Amino acid sequence: MNQTAATTVLDIEKIRNDFPILKRKVNGQPLVYFDNAATSQTPQVVIDAIVDYYANYNANIHRGVHALSQEATDAYEQARKKIQTHLNAKEAYEIIFTAGTTHAINLVANGFRSFLKQGDEVLVSALEHHSNIVPWQMLCEVTGARLRVIPMTPKGTLDMDAFAKAVTDKLKLVFVNHVSNALGTVNPIKEIIDQAHSVGAAVLIDGAQACPHIKPDVQELDADFYVLSAHKICGPTGVGILYGKQEWLNKLPPYQGGGEMIDQVSFEKTTYAGLPHKFEAGTPNICGGIATGVGLDYMNTIGFDAIAAYENDLLEYATQKLKAIPGLIIYGTAPEKTAVISFNVGEIHPYDIGTILDKLGIAVRTGHHCTQPIMDYFKIPGTVRASFAFYNTKEEIDVFVAALQRAVMMLS
Ligand code: ALA
Repeated sequence: MNQTAATTVLDIEKIRNDFPILKRKVNGQPLVYFDNAATSQTPQVVIDAIVDYYANYNANIHRGVHALSQEATDAYEQARKKIQTHLNAKEAYEIIFTAGTTHAINLVANGFRSFLKQGDEVLVSALEHHSNIVPWQMLCEVTGARLRVIPMTPKGTLDMDAFAKAVTDKLKLVFVNHVSNALGTVNPIKEIIDQAHSVGAAVLIDGAQACPHIKPDVQELDADFYVLSAHKICGPTGVGILYGKQEWLNKLPPYQGGGEMIDQVSFEKTTYAGLPHKFEAGTPNICGGIATGVGLDYMNTIGFDAIAAYENDLLEYATQKLKAIPGLIIYGTAPEKTAVISFNVGEIHPYDIGTILDKLGIAVRTGHHCTQPIMDYFKIPGTVRASFAFYNTKEEIDVFVAALQRAVMMLS
């Protein structure tokens, strides 16, 4: 999409007015929030939904005949349906609420303890967040399966030839992110899923970084599992979503025992509830689940195609401006990227740049971004990461670039 078309699609002034936090000052300067890959900001409609829940119908769900409990249950189950529709899952019960993406991945990794054995292989990509590496390492330690890695290239893309060679009949499970949090690379997940399925391996896609920008279709992708976090899609923290194909969710054992996940309990034997309750032990984050549905509605009203086009425009603009700064290196130059720019300038430590930017009201993330293997690949301690959302503007990018130039002058 060309620039004019992309910028006219969104009513940025109206959108920015929906986010109260964007009006605040930090260190006496108007906030420029470029840490969207860590968490997105929250629109007023989501804040209102949270207040409405606690003010008007706060009650436990699935276990009360009283009006408040039924209202809360209906709203929670309606949120599950909204997520089902958004992801195009076949059934609402294939959507499991969790405490976050990390929780969702651990739930699946724990379930696979029953299915893996010595000699089996599992494959992770070199571009993963620690949360999509460590649970699988723990799984391999317990089962004796072998963890292999799909290597990356200097552009920050996956080496798909190496992947193809690793697809053998020993392969049982593949886990890869849809989008890299550190570099913004969009991975060819459909190709990965199809190849993995050709040898009967299951695939888990970590969609935490994709979902703020891309609307996934889990049936079209044929993903076995797709996980994401509410707080990156205008929802609250503490809520994650696990989509799992019905066949897999029925096979996997429960992750946690407790109330709500049972059918019958006796001291001799307990039987488990059906989906989705089998994986939802205890009182969930009821308000958070409801607010997640509201956040998704908000983003869908703007439209994911419009969001992606607008953010792509911001990405292009910022990339060109940053490339003009002497000594600046961008890590992650994949042809298909979301609006994330990871960079360093000369020998300056990313933390020092981040600290000065903060003094000037600009929020970026610095460090290894929970992706130490990527930092090791590039032989760097970390990067400065600016990540944009649909409520950011080119004017903010100008402020950021000017502040960065000032920081570089002070630190050189
Ligand atoms: N995983 C989040 C990030 O990349 C927290 O910043």
